Amino acid sequence: MEIIRIPRILQDTCFKQRMHGRSIGFVPTMGALHEGHLSLIKRAASENDITVVSIFVNPMQFGPSEDLASYPRDVENDILKIRELKADILFLPDNSLMYAEGFSTSIQVDGLSERLCGHFRPGHFRGVATVVAKLLNLTSPTRAYFGQKDFQQTVVIKRMVRDLNIGAEIVVCPTIREADGLAMSSRNRYLAAEERTTAATLYKALSRASQQVVAGEPMTRIREQLHAMLSAEPKITAIDYASVFHPETLQELQETGQLKEVLIAVAVRIGKTRLIDNLIVNR
Ligand code: PAF
Repeated sequence: MEIIRIPRILQDTCFKQRMHGRSIGFVPTMGALHEGHLSLIKRAASENDITVVSIFVNPMQFGPSEDLASYPRDVENDILKIRELKADILFLPDNSLMYAEGFSTSIQVDGLSERLCGHFRPGHFRGVATVVAKLLNLTSPTRAYFGQKDFQQTVVIKRMVRDLNIGAEIVVCPTIREADGLAMSSRNRYLAAEERTTAATLYKALSRASQQVVAGEPMTRIREQLHAMLSAEPKITAIDYASVFHPETLQELQETGQLKEVLIAVAVRIGKTRLIDNLIVNR
């Protein structure tokens, strides 16, 4: 596996691969890799000639009071894991190369970025869209792989790719879960033992809400019970949102109407840790 640190070299290398007719599968990450990331890399490797993985903790997507400084970093172990999966290229840039002095461009996907997490993390999706656009320009992938756990991120990126005519297919892969249902996330490392036990409630609450959606129960009842189940946990210190949404517009639904698919999504704080999770429910 080749480790590349210079954006220009990555761009040239990937461009040459595409010129030779090879497909590129790209997996962008912020490191601290878990089974969720590894499933994306495996999928990319199975569907493309060349697999490129990036590790870059993108400062632009963290708010001033967020966890940029303490975000888990484990590059040595990450490299071992990526090597084992036989990825071809690992991109490991420095901040100064990604955001050179005078950097002043950003991408704002209006209408989608402000909803759900965007309301609680202003500027977050501007940072995500900007760095993903840069990474897609550097890797010119045939396909880029993202986890469903960050569902809003996938919706924002798909819209950006469509609007800006970026020639990559965005592939959304299933959330990988622990045995008790907790969605894998690098931030799970922050959870103390009791908090970790509480964290399993997110999936339980989502699963129950999903059954209620399928049974056609009224939206107000589903929302109330979702909130009640989460609020009953003393370790859950805040519920940012917990509701049913349109999976494309991300608008909160008052009724499901003719929709074939809905998004049930939650974001809570457990102590200092913010956790998100979601399910797409077919009706
Ligand atoms: O999902 C993530 O880890 C990040 O938001 C991403 C897509 C790598 C952009 O920094």
